[in-house]
Amino acid sequence: MLYTNPRGIGCVECHGRFGEGQQIANYIHKRKGKTLQGPRINNLSFREFENALQKTKKVMPKYYLTSNEIEAIYKYLESIEKPQEY
Ligand code: HEC
Repeated sequence: MLYTNPRGIGCVECHGRFGEGQQIANYIHKRKGKTLQGPRINNLSFREFENALQKTKKVMPKYYLTSNEIEAIYKYLESIEKPQEY
């Protein structure tokens, strides 16, 4: 539940169903086509994952998740990961 809709904005919208990363949007900036990409997040260590969620990012909203919540999301991603596909 936290992964799909924490604080009303789902990680899934930008990082994909399994945290595999996905394209968020295409746009034009200074006449160049750009793509906004949500990075893959199902291959990080817990430490990297936690750090990423605690610092302010450029695009990603800051969630102020508790460490229990961060751990729950991390475990969720581990549990749904399908390693044979990668
Ligand atoms: C609006 C789109 C968006 C949403 C929603 C979002 N993210 Fe992100 N996330 C990004 C982008 C884009 C980056 C790359 C850094 C940046 O530019 O903000 C990122 C970076 C990350 C990273 C660091 C990846 C790395 O390789 O260091 C983690 C971990 C992460 N997000 C987890 C989450 C989790 C968990 C949630 C839900 C609580 C979430 N994100 C919601 C867009 C999003």
